[in-house]
Amino acid sequence: MPLAITIDGRPSTEADATVSVLDRGFLFGDSVFEVVRTYGGVPFAGREHLERLARSCEGLGIVVPVSLDALEREIADTIARSGEPECYVRIVITRGRGPLNIDPAPAKHPLRVVIAAPLSPWPEGLHTRGVEVATVRVERATDHTRAAGAKVSAYVANMLALSTARERGAYEAMMVGAGGEISEGTTSNVFVVTAGEVRTPPLSMGILGGITRRYVLRAADDLGVPWRETVLFPRDLERADEAFLTSSLREVVPIVGVDGVRIGEGRPGPITARLLERYRELVRAHCDG
Ligand SMILES: Cc1ncc(COP(=O)(O)O)c(C=O)c1O
Repeated sequence: MPLAITIDGRPSTEADATVSVLDRGFLFGDSVFEVVRTYGGVPFAGREHLERLARSCEGLGIVVPVSLDALEREIADTIARSGEPECYVRIVITRGRGPLNIDPAPAKHPLRVVIAAPLSPWPEGLHTRGVEVATVRVERATDHTRAAGAKVSAYVANMLALSTARERGAYEAMMVGAGGEISEGTTSNVFVVTAGEVRTPPLSMGILGGITRRYVLRAADDLGVPWRETVLFPRDLERADEAFLTSSLREVVPIVGVDGVRIGEGRPGPITARLLERYRELVRAHCDG
């Protein structure tokens, strides 16, 4: 199935969708993005993703070029053109074209792109067997900047961390900061479960405020599972009874090992399973309604 694409409101196909080489997103990674998943053609938490996109733009000082309502309509139209009920939707806003130098001020016309692609199948056993992760020391592009927590497109540090993890035979990298603390995965948030309590790093660490993270914490409230935000270290993962990661595309994925050390029983834990089940109920309630 080909991609459905909308650039600045114009429907395009992969063959004719083009962006200028002077676009600052291309030249400097001067752009922000969102990834939304659809269920039966409906974007899950679409509005919350757009609100986060607007906050990311604010972090970079990019003015969102159209209203969120208009953007929502462009997304719905792109999904409809894709003909795919289960889509990966990527929304990108760049600062637009400017001179070749780094100064953002002359670029005054942000560019927006919506891409709807069929969802790639999950790796086999992703939710039933769980995954191994590796801790990787990383400085991210937005660390200690005023754009901390924004979903900026400059994912080089995340990408390299993922490559390192994959070289070590792990599925995902847990990014570790200068103090040895775990911040998040390269495209996921991380949680541990110890003695029945769920813990996850706080947003104040400059991590991405994951939409899935938010709904999983809501699921924990619904189930009466206690949770708190706290700084986590690799040893907390190693000693946890259960651990899991979250992302819009993969929902709740059990982590069964870290840096070669088995977590808990080395298989998906019961609280993780209940949170995934409740998360899926919340998704259904949102997307079927
Ligand atoms: C760095 C990072 N953290 C967390 C997440 C999970 O966010 P969400 O649940 O909104 O998909 C992502 C998703 O791509 C990410 O890139």
